[in-house]
Amino acid sequence: MRISVFGLGYVGCVTSGCLARDGHTVYAVDIQKSKVERIASGLPTVVENGLDPLIATGVAEGRIIACSDAETAVHNSDVSIICVGTPNANDGSLDLSAIQSTCRSLGLALRRKSGRHIVINRSTVPPGTAADVVLPLLVEASNKPENEIGVLVVPEFLREGCAIADYDDPPFVIVGSIDEDYSVDAPHIEEMFSRFRDRIRWLPSREAEMLKGLCNVFHAMKVSFANEIGSLCSAISVDGRRVMHELVQDTKLNISPAYLRPGLPFGGSCLPKDLRMMISMAQSENVDLPLLRGILASNDAHLQRAMKAITASGRRRIGIDGLSFKAGTDDLRESPIVLMAEYLIGKGFDVLIYDPDVQVSFLSGANQKYVQDRLPHLSCRMAKSPEDLLEHSELVVFTRDKSTIRTIVANSISPIDSLDLNSLSAVYDAVHPKHDIGATSPVLAAG
Ligand SMILES: NC(=O)c1ccc[n+]([C@@H]2O[C@H](COP(=O)([O-])OP(=O)(O)OC[C@H]3O[C@@H](n4cnc5c(N)ncnc54)[C@H](O)[C@@H]3O)[C@@H](O)[C@H]2O)c1
Repeated sequence: MRISVFGLGYVGCVTSGCLARDGHTVYAVDIQKSKVERIASGLPTVVENGLDPLIATGVAEGRIIACSDAETAVHNSDVSIICVGTPNANDGSLDLSAIQSTCRSLGLALRRKSGRHIVINRSTVPPGTAADVVLPLLVEASNKPENEIGVLVVPEFLREGCAIADYDDPPFVIVGSIDEDYSVDAPHIEEMFSRFRDRIRWLPSREAEMLKGLCNVFHAMKVSFANEIGSLCSAISVDGRRVMHELVQDTKLNISPAYLRPGLPFGGSCLPKDLRMMISMAQSENVDLPLLRGILASNDAHLQRAMKAITASGRRRIGIDGLSFKAGTDDLRESPIVLMAEYLIGKGFDVLIYDPDVQVSFLSGANQKYVQDRLPHLSCRMAKSPEDLLEHSELVVFTRDKSTIRTIVANSISPIDSLDLNSLSAVYDAVHPKHDIGATSPVLAAG
């Protein structure tokens, strides 16, 4: 393939070297003359393991052509890749000025090129950049109709120091598309990344853009988590590296999709209790652990969002589907749903609850005490059947992914208002009813 690469820093230089090695012809563009000259003389612009021979060979064999003008690059390629810098602005947002000026140069060059051209953004950007910044600028500068420009998002996940090894063995190749139908551009992507065709994952462009930044946030959080645990361990004579080494051996619950799906706040008899234990140990040892401390605050903020979504509905007779902290158990200790019901009742809402796993007369010990302290007349609050709950409710609140009540509501002919706390967009929209134009909140699913 003939590909133009805009921006010859870490990402652009590595991408150019690897694409040329894989048999593609690369037009490598930068606004810094010194970088163009380095590449033209067969030298990489950055220090990176194994990159020197890729650039030297690519240039010597005529598969890397360094140039300063977008026109030459665009006219000699079918696909352009944007790899320019996106540093933080003063307020922490990303400065997209290099992306914008690249799009203008690309667009102007496209004016005099016929046929469809694909522009791939590989720089890290906030969600919406491809659709709201890149495509409109290209269309405006090129004077071409939208359907002659394919804009895709292919974020780069390489790590400096082992960038070529990462390029050659990516965990996945994320490809974001603005259009739902990406069949026109898919063959180009498959050809460009033919070595890892089976790792290509297509996403809507906003999700692809979000995912890139999010992966780095996740890594940053893991480093801080490991360092906080390491510091606590040192203070109490535990080998932190040994503990963390074993922690990651568990790929069922620890390093796995478990506990990583947005939904309800956490609760139950173990997570909050053991988290408090760690924080308390750290306090006794004068070790400050802001990340661990922040977890309880974060969980509480999430509970507040859920409660606000219910109160914002304007309904007074509320039916809650589920009470224990998760389905399949009658453990009510630290269940966020108990706290939610307590709050709503305290605010004068008429709350009825249905949970087939909870038999009030069977509750005992700490479980019984926890709920008695918060919901003293629980038996009066429990619906005997899904039908009882539905008859009572102006609003049904789902806390489970699957339940009898969900099935009844989904199949009901007459509309039943509901709020799904596992659907974060439903919770967000209820709290921020931007489309609310009438007395009835449109964010509540009906029927
Ligand atoms: N460095 C990494 O490890 C890494 C990894 C993954 C993703 N990223 C992301 O990739 C993007 C690029 O990062 P980088 O580290 O390679 O940046 P960099 O600063 O090293 O290089 C960016 C290059 O773009 C050039 N440039 C700016 N405007 C231009 C224009 N209009 N036309 C042509 N070239 C232009 C600059 O002169 C510079 O050489 C950033 O968004 C970054 O967040 C970086």
